[in-house]
Amino acid sequence: MNCPDQNTYPNLSKLIFEILSLWPEHERYLEKSFSCRDIHLLRHSERLSAMIMRLSHTIDGGLTTLAADYRFLCEQIVLPEELYFRRNGRYRLTKFEDALNTVYSDNVFMTRYMNGLLMSDVMWVNHCRGLQHYTEKFLPSLDAGSDLLEIGPGHGLLLFLATEASHIGSVSAWDVSQTSLAMSQHALETLGATRQVKFEARNIFDASILDEARAGLFDAVVLSEVLEHLEQPEQAIRVLLHLCKPSGRVWINVPANSPAPDHLYLVNKPQQAEQLVRDVGFNVIDTAHFPMTGVTLDRAIKQQLTVTCIIVGEKPMQ
Ligand SMILES: C[S@@+](CC[C@H](N)C(=O)[O-])C[C@H]1O[C@@H](n2cnc3c(N)ncnc32)[C@H](O)[C@@H]1O
Repeated sequence: MNCPDQNTYPNLSKLIFEILSLWPEHERYLEKSFSCRDIHLLRHSERLSAMIMRLSHTIDGGLTTLAADYRFLCEQIVLPEELYFRRNGRYRLTKFEDALNTVYSDNVFMTRYMNGLLMSDVMWVNHCRGLQHYTEKFLPSLDAGSDLLEIGPGHGLLLFLATEASHIGSVSAWDVSQTSLAMSQHALETLGATRQVKFEARNIFDASILDEARAGLFDAVVLSEVLEHLEQPEQAIRVLLHLCKPSGRVWINVPANSPAPDHLYLVNKPQQAEQLVRDVGFNVIDTAHFPMTGVTLDRAIKQQLTVTCIIVGEKPMQ
């Protein structure tokens, strides 16, 4: 494969090398994923790869484990769900309780799943472009001193990127899972975050979040790869509206047509998710659609293939 230059992109080259050593058949896919990246996206890929390399030093088996878990994600986790989706036109699960019993409560499986997803943030071009939009477009668009909340930070990469944006005033993080919170905290420590993050164990559906005391607390609320895991996506967007100050912004990243064992809410077309955000009361001020590796946006929409959908909503002044 025509790899990104090793001297310019040393960390990215190491990740690719490790994956191909373990899984040579993946070369064609990676060729497609990297040949379409311009210099800005390659630099962004290198920045993320450097973060993943640092995290790999704290994982048993290091980069080899991450590469193996990435392969496990593609072949054992996503592929069976993809086949189900193609046959039935829907995701396999619709109830949170079933995802809890079969996925979230299996610690070994969850660790491999999360490790694989971490690698996908560089290897899958739609994931990489989504993070680029967040880092290079959304964060810089926020006013100096903005209070930012991320709900469901998981692996913690977005949270770390927020702490690196010096104009952001404060960074908070809520997650329903103690394991995810611990993972995010660990990532911030490992990556050397120089700012404090206020962590809280919270379910987005906690009735207490809708208390007056929590109304209008934040200038920015981030919900990345969470909406598709929820049984009541509309209620979640209502909570975001409640938490935003007037003119506050949300950055929502939700995939369309993205089967996974814990995905419950199926978005068929990017416009469907945008309409949901509008219906709840946000003005949609920016959108971006990034198709999966190797296909155009038109083809992805026609054939119901995965598209990463980014929606930036702004709460009206009154
Ligand atoms: C797939 S991870 C997303 C990680 C990261 N934000 C990203 O973009 O890759 C989903 C996260 O949402 C959290 N989560 C799921 N349901 C939630 C809820 N009801 N309230 C708060 N967090 C939730 C999970 O614990 C997990 O950390």
